[in-house]
Amino acid sequence: MLGLSLKLPVWQAPMAGVTTPELVAAVSNAGGLGNIGAGYLSGEQTEAFIREVKRLTDASFGINLFVPENPAADIEKVEKAKKRLAPYRKELGMEADRSNSVASASAYPEQLAVVLKEKVPVCSFTFGLPEADVVEQLKANQTLVIGTATTVEEAAAVEQLGMDAVVVQGSEAGGHRGSFQEPESLIGLMSLLPQAVQEVSIPVIAAGGIMNGQGVAAALCLGAAAVQMGTAFLVTKESGAHPLHKEAILTADETAAMLTKAFSGKSARGIANRFLMEMKDMENDLPPYPVQNALTSGIRKQAGKLKNREFLSLWCGQSPRLSRHQTVAELMEMLDREVKKAFQSGRERIKG
Ligand SMILES: Cc1cc2nc3c(=O)[nH]c(=O)nc-3n(C[C@H](O)[C@H](O)[C@H](O)COP(=O)(O)O)c2cc1C
Repeated sequence: MLGLSLKLPVWQAPMAGVTTPELVAAVSNAGGLGNIGAGYLSGEQTEAFIREVKRLTDASFGINLFVPENPAADIEKVEKAKKRLAPYRKELGMEADRSNSVASASAYPEQLAVVLKEKVPVCSFTFGLPEADVVEQLKANQTLVIGTATTVEEAAAVEQLGMDAVVVQGSEAGGHRGSFQEPESLIGLMSLLPQAVQEVSIPVIAAGGIMNGQGVAAALCLGAAAVQMGTAFLVTKESGAHPLHKEAILTADETAAMLTKAFSGKSARGIANRFLMEMKDMENDLPPYPVQNALTSGIRKQAGKLKNREFLSLWCGQSPRLSRHQTVAELMEMLDREVKKAFQSGRERIKG
């Protein structure tokens, strides 16, 4: 598919903040597609990350960028959110937030220049569509360009822009999804995937709740060209997720991961904790992404240092019971065996 010659049609989801060069390279070395989650990196950090992945693998890999969003800053909302966060900062031993800036500048232009310079084989975008000339430039540079969609209409917009493939994210998906048309809809992957496959002619990559080979086989049966898995890779040994984050997923059940705007101002799925629950009443009155994300960033970092899971963003999809703590190579081998077995037992069941 797409000339990537993968041994297994499995893409490790780009996960900003938790992907490490070791994770990305291990997936690509095992015959899948590793993806750098570059969303929170500077241009320089992006370049260093790409170079490290190239040092660790000769296989193809991808990178994911956040299309910048510049919502109007509502100072009143920002002040209200700061006030609400102040007791949490105090509880965690932090100083009061006296910052004036409501959001940091996006590194997107520098990141794009680096992706072009380094000729990264695959570049995906989330939180919106890139400019048409960006798509053209990347394609002319032999980079495969991938969009992210959560509805059929968004997938069609990705196709119309001339992108090479589209990742469709069902509502089961962990973390933030790439919705860019209002209102955000919550269509499950079982419904979204076959409808997207029917309506667009570019390859469709399925994401949301897929954790094992049976899930991979099901997505392929529904027409997916490949799957993109986040939570399953987040708990592997090579992932850079906080140990408490991994543990929370490994011990969670299917009801644990809820949608919340509390951490970033944008809807995302994560395991419920004190911060998520206590902020519920304020969810619709928070500053938008990326402003709220910047406001809670220090709290999350401090919680990580203090090993306090109640203030960490514990992103997770809806299938945590299927999570397995192992190396990437072990996970990929297991997926390979399970996919084959799933197709075989499916054939046997049809025969009766
Ligand atoms: C911790 C975490 C971080 C994520 N960060 C990104 C990201 O930076 N870019 C992106 O396109 N998707 C991101 N996602 C969403 C994934 O691309 C994918 O849709 C999701 O993981 C699929 O659901 P699953 O976790 O059940 O496999 C993230 C998901 C998680 C769990």
